[in-house]
Amino acid sequence: MLIAPSILSADFGSLADEVKNVCEAGADYVHIDVMDGHFVPNLTIGPLVAGAAAKAASKPLDIHLMVENVPFFAELFAPIKPEFLSFHIEEEKHPHRLISRIRDLGIRPAITLNPHTTERAIEYLLGDLDMVLLMSVNPGFGGQRFIPSVLEKTQRLKELIVKRSPKCLIEIDGGVNGENASALKEAGADILVAGAYIFGAADRKAAIDSLR
Ligand code: DX5
Ligand code: ZN
Repeated sequence: MLIAPSILSADFGSLADEVKNVCEAGADYVHIDVMDGHFVPNLTIGPLVAGAAAKAASKPLDIHLMVENVPFFAELFAPIKPEFLSFHIEEEKHPHRLISRIRDLGIRPAITLNPHTTERAIEYLLGDLDMVLLMSVNPGFGGQRFIPSVLEKTQRLKELIVKRSPKCLIEIDGGVNGENASALKEAGADILVAGAYIFGAADRKAAIDSLR
């Protein structure tokens, strides 16, 4: 299991140290939540701050766009060279075109699904994706409670992936903790995002190890 701490729950006054700390504690990716105040009712990280996090990180970035006007934001964050760049299927009218553009920029494309969106919405995109991110909370805030129906969705998505694009990864984001991690693994998850659970832990390495 790969682990991606979400810096949304970090101390932003010491962001560089926080990023270094979770990388040293065993993170595989650093998850960056970009919110625009339109697609979600919160406003977070722009390219300047994401760039500062990238400079401090010894692990690759996983940028999660929760924004309207996705192509604009994709271009804005591309120079930071994240490993993954994900955007919400609910927002983009031409996802296939944007996936191709992200790959042309040298970034691995990913699509995110809100809790209500069926996995079948992206069935015909799977062959072009490196990762699917399933939201297990309503996007916008850290520290929310895990929505259990994502377990069934993870299983169903895994079945589609095995059939159509076996290399595509499944990432779960929201309310992930030591109690639901093993059920998510069993359902087919490859990467777990966790904010409050890791940054709120006295021992972050132990928190990351418990998820793995
Ligand atoms: C929510 C974000 C998540 C969030 C996860 O919109 O996409 O990445 O930070 O935080 P926790 O693990 O605290 O639910
Ligand atoms: Zn996220």
